[in-house]
Amino acid sequence: MEPKKQDTASALKDIISHAKEYGFVFPSSEIYDGLQAVYDYGQNGVELKNNLKNVWYKAMTMLNDNVVGLDAAIFMHPLTWKASGHVDSFNDPMIDNKDSKKRYRADTLLEERAAALEDEGKATEAKALMQAMAKGLDAGDLEAVRQLIIDQNIKCPVSGTANWTEVRQFNLMFSTQVGAVSEDASLIYLRPETAQGIFVNFLNVQKTGRMKVPFGIAQIGKAFRNEIVARNFIFRMREFEQMEMQFFVRPGTEMEWYNTWKETRMKFHQAIGLPADSLKFHDHDKLAHYANAAVDIEYKFPFGFKEMEGIHSRTDFDLKAHQELSKKKQQYFDPEINQNYIPYVVETSVGADRLFLAILCNAYTEETTGEGETLKQRVYLNIHPALAPTKVAVLPLVKKDGLAEKAQEITNQLKFAFNTTYDDGGAIGKRYTRQDLIGTPYCVVVDYQTMEDQTVTVRDRNTMTQERISIADLKEKLGYAVSMERIFEKLV
Ligand code: GAP
Repeated sequence: MEPKKQDTASALKDIISHAKEYGFVFPSSEIYDGLQAVYDYGQNGVELKNNLKNVWYKAMTMLNDNVVGLDAAIFMHPLTWKASGHVDSFNDPMIDNKDSKKRYRADTLLEERAAALEDEGKATEAKALMQAMAKGLDAGDLEAVRQLIIDQNIKCPVSGTANWTEVRQFNLMFSTQVGAVSEDASLIYLRPETAQGIFVNFLNVQKTGRMKVPFGIAQIGKAFRNEIVARNFIFRMREFEQMEMQFFVRPGTEMEWYNTWKETRMKFHQAIGLPADSLKFHDHDKLAHYANAAVDIEYKFPFGFKEMEGIHSRTDFDLKAHQELSKKKQQYFDPEINQNYIPYVVETSVGADRLFLAILCNAYTEETTGEGETLKQRVYLNIHPALAPTKVAVLPLVKKDGLAEKAQEITNQLKFAFNTTYDDGGAIGKRYTRQDLIGTPYCVVVDYQTMEDQTVTVRDRNTMTQERISIADLKEKLGYAVSMERIFEKLV
């Protein structure tokens, strides 16, 4: 029977429980009832996330001669955020219900209303509502946005009333004080995107690395946003990680590079195991002030197709703004055309946590096999072997007659090459199940035949088929099967 893939929102609940029960994701500071929209990665989660970060970083820097890495600090000079526009306009419009005291994003309330209208077959009305909202937000007319909420008779889901406050803009940046003095001058922000650390280091990297345009700088790091509405597990968090790459190009060539990176990034997501029909491009209807083209790569999460990665052609907006505010030239001399210019930038930006969630949602499989008395149900995580937290589990069939020692010996040989675990606790079927639940692609079993001919069985997680192979070949065969090379081969 075909494995069952869950598509409904209830699937998310199963995935959240699975993530917690098997050491992937825990609510932050859970013993104090947690902290909203903040999560910790457990023993298996951290392995999966590190593998995702590694495969992204290597795909960027190892496979592209002209992309190099960077690790900029989270704290940056406050003027950085003035130049980038975050101080003045990194806002969400919020509204409070006076009865429930609950806070909502005004645009989300209206978007949900428009979606409901669409479901009722009132597409024209839905479109008109979205246009009216965009007009109000663009003009900074928050009263008009509030009026739409009132006119649509949108009620607070908690209190059931339409007793709304005015709409206010809410800046999403977290701030704190640097040093001991509590003055305005010491105000500092937690970065809301990693990109600016790349922009301010553009010339440092270009000069010290003798980089020639076009070239890219890739970085993985934490970002922080005081999201008003945080939901859908690790989809929208207040502390999260971004994997961003800024690609510096000659002005006028940006659309070519934008299209190249669009295709490259889509290929990447498919290469790490996300199915093509669960991914799609979504062009931005409305462009940010700094962009001349923007697209999202959306993944079909259990709660619908949603943004996983953003690809933006950011023009020379950021470098130009930094040049103006810092009074330091951000120009590049292009020897090929004998000209100085501020490069244009194509950005690829994917959230490590969102990618993690997509991989987990895609991997979670409920399968029923057999019929009648042989009917069996199992859950397993179909994670690409190169990304799986544990690659191989070595299991002695029984603990006696030297089988345990042999299995330990094999574990010790393999663990230098990839994540290998040893397990001798309980019946073999239970041990297979334990590994299936955390997505271990291969179980190596040491049995009595092993002691005679130095062969073991290797069980495949997805097919549950077993193959007998020589211990001497294990490292090489499994090594390739679990290697990132298999992903990289699909990218060239
Ligand atoms: N530098 C461009 C930038 O930050 P963005 O669309 O705001 O663009 C890029 O964010 C990516 O970062 C998103 O596609 C998403 O994967 C991730 N991301 C953004 N906000 C997030 C949040 N609150 N929680 C988790 N991931 C988030």
